[in-house]
Amino acid sequence: MSVKTEFDPKNMPFRRLGPSGLRVPVFSLGGWLTLGGTVVGDPVKEIIKVAFENGINMFDTAEGYAKGHSEVEMGRVIKELGYRRSDLVITTKLFFGTRTGPNDTGLSRKHIIEGTQESLDRLGLDYVDVLFAHRPDYTTPMEEVVRAFNYVIEKGWAFYWATSEWSARDIEEAYHVAEKLNLIPPIAEQCQHHMFHRERPEKEYAPVYKKYSIGTTVWSALASGLLTGKYNNGIPADSRFAAHSDFFKDTLKSLNEEEGLSKIRKVQALTKLAETELGCSVTHLALAWIAKNPNTSTVILGASKPEQVVDNLKALDVIPKLTPEILDKIETILQNKPAPSPTFGRPLLDAYGRQ
Ligand SMILES: NC(=O)c1ccc[n+]([C@@H]2O[C@H](COP(=O)([O-])OP(=O)(O)OC[C@H]3O[C@@H](n4cnc5c(N)ncnc54)[C@H](OP(=O)(O)O)[C@@H]3O)[C@@H](O)[C@H]2O)c1
Repeated sequence: MSVKTEFDPKNMPFRRLGPSGLRVPVFSLGGWLTLGGTVVGDPVKEIIKVAFENGINMFDTAEGYAKGHSEVEMGRVIKELGYRRSDLVITTKLFFGTRTGPNDTGLSRKHIIEGTQESLDRLGLDYVDVLFAHRPDYTTPMEEVVRAFNYVIEKGWAFYWATSEWSARDIEEAYHVAEKLNLIPPIAEQCQHHMFHRERPEKEYAPVYKKYSIGTTVWSALASGLLTGKYNNGIPADSRFAAHSDFFKDTLKSLNEEEGLSKIRKVQALTKLAETELGCSVTHLALAWIAKNPNTSTVILGASKPEQVVDNLKALDVIPKLTPEILDKIETILQNKPAPSPTFGRPLLDAYGRQ
């Protein structure tokens, strides 16, 4: 019998994933562009090992990451490290596929079922904990999508299903279909959420948080590294924007225009606030700020080196330091808080009552 490495959560806090009973670490780790992409072989193992040893037991990937290689690398490493399956929360995502045939992508029943089987094959696992619909598919009826995810769960290939970058309207539709047909609804939304991307996660989703207790598994909390300050004075050779200059060409262009320059000025002001008032880096401040949001179930970290995982977890100590006064100072710097929904003249409710 193989020896299993025991999971020690250290000081990692855990939260429920949306309305479900599944507990996820406040910081998890994902593989987009990195694991199986720019990072392969032993360095993947080093990153996952350091994460696990520091309380991260949730790992996120997708069929489309590095055309399936991210799942392959993650699965291989998890097996080699001898982790107990029940200690881990493994999530993957379907939509983009690994091939380009007419039924190799999207959310048809055919691709959801075949895609799940292929993902499990690549991961070398019998099941994933959460299976995400990586995007909405407007060419497949919602009833077919919900029925297919329900089938995958009934088969035991996934415990829960969730959405990624769906509109609030799409999520509502999935709920209504699930309710009408007595099927399982999605429990979470994997959305982009960071200091420069707020409208959808903070305003559009407000009704679905309230009605369905949807939780978010946040991606790009550091805006791909912009919020670390590493791009304040140009593009370092050893960085994501340099390694993926084609994919990020619009972002790179914007960094020479007012839109990007104003973000850099904000990163500099946030850096000053972090260092002088909180004794931390802007990276820690940006991560803690997302983790503090009550709708965040987990912030999925991205890392090209093990040191980044260790550094980013220092954000845990900053979360309790984000007082209302500090949050106000952050808003003064950002100037992008989504406007509240209109009340059409109705007076404000008591601040402590049900909004
Ligand atoms: N559902 C979706 O559509 C979707 C989309 C995107 C991502 N995701 C998920 O979310 C995860 C995280 O997204 P992300 O990778 O974009 O997150 P991110 O935190 O915004 O960016 C991570 C990158 O920033 C740099 N970095 C991280 N920590 C750093 C530090 N302490 N100092 C300096 N640089 C640092 C690294 O890049 P370099 O070192 O290479 O510069 C790292 O790969 C993904 O892995 C994936 O699982 C989901």
